[in-house]
Amino acid sequence: METSSFSFTALYTGETWVANGLSVPELRTPGGELMYRALAPMEWAGKALFGTNLRHMLVERHVAIDRLLIGMIEDMPGAQVLEIACGLSARGCRFSRQFPDLRYVEADLPQMAAMKVGALSRVPGLSSNHAVVALDILAEEGPASLATVLASTFDASRPVVVISEGLMNYFPLPVVSTVWRRMAKDLRRFPAGAYLSETYCPPGRRLFRAATTLGAAGLRLVSRSSAGILFKTPEAAARHLEDCGFDTTEIARIDKVAPLAILTARLAPAA
Ligand SMILES: C[S@@+](CC[C@H](N)C(=O)[O-])C[C@H]1O[C@@H](n2cnc3c(N)ncnc32)[C@H](O)[C@@H]1O
Repeated sequence: METSSFSFTALYTGETWVANGLSVPELRTPGGELMYRALAPMEWAGKALFGTNLRHMLVERHVAIDRLLIGMIEDMPGAQVLEIACGLSARGCRFSRQFPDLRYVEADLPQMAAMKVGALSRVPGLSSNHAVVALDILAEEGPASLATVLASTFDASRPVVVISEGLMNYFPLPVVSTVWRRMAKDLRRFPAGAYLSETYCPPGRRLFRAATTLGAAGLRLVSRSSAGILFKTPEAAARHLEDCGFDTTEIARIDKVAPLAILTARLAPAA
């Protein structure tokens, strides 16, 4: 399955994070700036009609994952972090500054990973514990597979937290299930493992629901993906993660952005 067609959406998110103080100017791109300007009327209309918009959701999502990740780093001594489909996220830079001993590896498809390496080379004072690698989450084996990246970039005697933000809803459910099953299995090689991701549910208000359905159709078209809502409720998403091999799950609802919740899935520490 060829999935590089949805890499460009990371540019818009990247620009949104810079505009909201969650990123660094070195991670801006001309494409992101252009999209940010072009979509301003749509964002304005969303805010006026529904009290929220895509930019707001992207910021809330990022901040909520940051908050949960801080809790995990504090709860899991020696935790290491793998941010898959990192796009232009500056979380690796921010967390490596805040936690100088933290091993933080960002990963994306080879082309996006190369772009990220180039952008980060302009950021002063990066930690030597912070790296960017190529990873294709759909690869069953080989150098870009999750199993190989986990084995080659992390200390097997310490816990690992995997993050995926803004990725899984681009895939159809059977693909998501395969990825989650493989992830749960691969993370079992570490003394403890956890996974942070988001899920979207259909909004309650009819007009808002119609707008998000239209937005998802547009995204499917431009990203040539099956982008959409995978689960009707966060509980259904959490149950599915457990069916795929995770031991426990928790749901953090993002109150200000009703259709979004962040899921934490954990594997029980090895006995
Ligand atoms: C919507 S962007 C999200 C990027 C970033 N996490 C964010 O929130 O802006 C989707 C990202 O997934 C990456 N991606 C697409 N297919 C992938 C795959 N098979 N394995 C890993 N990453 C992939 C893209 O390159 C892109 O960076």
